[in-house]
Amino acid sequence: MIPPVVELRGVSKTYGEVTALAGADLVVERGELLAIVGPSGSGKSTLLNIMGTLGRPTAGTVLVDGHDIDGLGDRRLSALRAGHIGFVFQSFHLAPGVPALDAVADGLLYGGRPRARRRRLAEEALRRVGLGHRLYNEPHQLSGGEKQRVAIARAVAGEPALLLADEPTGALDSRSGAAVMELLRELHGGGTAVVVITHDRDIAASLPREVRIKDGRIAHDSRLEVVV
Ligand SMILES: Nc1ncnc2c1ncn2[C@@H]1O[C@H](COP(=O)(O)OP(=O)(O)O)[C@@H](O)[C@H]1O
Ligand SMILES: [Mg+2]
Repeated sequence: MIPPVVELRGVSKTYGEVTALAGADLVVERGELLAIVGPSGSGKSTLLNIMGTLGRPTAGTVLVDGHDIDGLGDRRLSALRAGHIGFVFQSFHLAPGVPALDAVADGLLYGGRPRARRRRLAEEALRRVGLGHRLYNEPHQLSGGEKQRVAIARAVAGEPALLLADEPTGALDSRSGAAVMELLRELHGGGTAVVVITHDRDIAASLPREVRIKDGRIAHDSRLEVVV
């Protein structure tokens, strides 16, 4: 049996007095496309960070591709993350002065591929997101939508099984946002599991699965809906 790309069992996360997640259960299978929605402060980013192993839970179990991360030291966890998971953030996270090709190629540093191979994969990824004509442009020479597409190219250049996007359209005008969503759908069509955190109810409703989070709890998961 193929394990889920990520599975959370009873995951809680506290920051001092603040409970950001309280016993969340969530399974994302290979190739799924789903939205996570919820009010500001409800724990969406915390959930995404824990799914992406950027943070460890205070309690509960996180399995990535069937591996319990609790048993992994930081180095092995980083390697697991680099091999399986790509990230996209609302604010792009692109360093100023770095051309698109380098930004994407540098995202592959962890995989141990030689430089020429990294650059070839980076160019392919940028072409895939429609930026074959922007390889040498720096962030300040790109529109918001183009910057987000560079970030998406960086996230998928290593062909991760799971792409995690935290409000990827949040800083974009509606047209660029729609183009970014279209791109995420294409990547999903190519077999990548895609998790999108969004405030946008229309986007959420348009995806095959919707998970709602409230006060750190999964309040609704359309996949678990029981027809009575
Ligand atoms: N690093 C942190 N330190 C302290 N509190 C945090 C931290 N990250 C998140 N929180 C708190 O956890 C709760 C959930 O935050 P977050 O996951 O960012 O929610 P959302 O993404 O839904 O807006 C909030 O109350 C927030 O203030
Ligand atoms: Mg957030």
